[in-house]
Amino acid sequence: MESKGWAVVLGASSGFGEATALKLADRGMNICGVHLDRRGGMAKVAETVGWIEGKGVRALFRNENAADPDRRREAISALGEAAGGGPGVRVLFHSLAFGSLRPFCGEGAVSEDQMDMTLRVMAHSLVYWTRDLLAGGLLGPGAKIFAMTSSGGTRVLPAYGPVSAAKAALESHVRQLAMELAPRGIAANAVRAGVTDTPALRKIPGSDQLIANAMARNPAGRLTLPEDVAEAVAALVDAPVWLTGNVIGVDGGEDIVG
Ligand SMILES: NC(=O)c1ccc[n+]([C@@H]2O[C@H](COP(=O)([O-])OP(=O)(O)OC[C@H]3O[C@@H](n4cnc5c(N)ncnc54)[C@H](O)[C@@H]3O)[C@@H](O)[C@H]2O)c1
Repeated sequence: MESKGWAVVLGASSGFGEATALKLADRGMNICGVHLDRRGGMAKVAETVGWIEGKGVRALFRNENAADPDRRREAISALGEAAGGGPGVRVLFHSLAFGSLRPFCGEGAVSEDQMDMTLRVMAHSLVYWTRDLLAGGLLGPGAKIFAMTSSGGTRVLPAYGPVSAAKAALESHVRQLAMELAPRGIAANAVRAGVTDTPALRKIPGSDQLIANAMARNPAGRLTLPEDVAEAVAALVDAPVWLTGNVIGVDGGEDIVG
């Protein structure tokens, strides 16, 4: 298959990241995937890589902390070599779930380090990946940046405070990137998924109640699936770069129902 360039997928081994990596590979894109898995999860990652390569495209997967600056620079350097020079990255998809689910006050309150780590991984890493891909000459006109947000970016939930702050920061970072990158012909949007049954969701205290509420509220009568987001992102890859700076709901209308 003729390659349609590279997609960098942060969080490529599960949930939205994995589904989007598979969908973009199916559309002919090479995938550079970063994920953080224990040994027990690596068989599933190998299956994902095998599936992608079976589509006749390349898979460059790395099991490491995407928020570590040294690992990030190494990954971008390896990608630069694999891409053979030029702005080969068409998509940067940020889908990292690695936050502290703790209250701000009282028993079990989030520590300062936990709060900083949550913001660093789930929000600020988007800025640094974008900046280093640009500096490496890998992002050029027509490239699209997507970052996964949730309705928690504007709403409160018990124990979701640190992640909620990260989502608010992530949406702000997307607006800033959209403005700074518009002259380069690069678009940046946040994708606000509905409640989706993934390992990250199951870690939120009270996730059963969240799922029940979403099922009751969603006008389509079901939860969002990772594949719903993958389909939307695959469609938006070909959207005009004029579509930028938005928070795009991909939730079957869940967020608009009171
Ligand atoms: N599940 C939902 O209901 C929902 C809804 C809206 C938005 N989101 C957001 O979507 C994003 C992805 O969530 P998901 O539900 O697909 O989660 P998931 O647990 O299924 O996948 C998370 C991925 O991130 C990777 N990861 C975590 N920390 C990492 C790190 N430090 N470095 C590299 N890789 C790391 C994991 O290995 C995995 O591949 C998150 O930002 C989450 O907040 C989730």
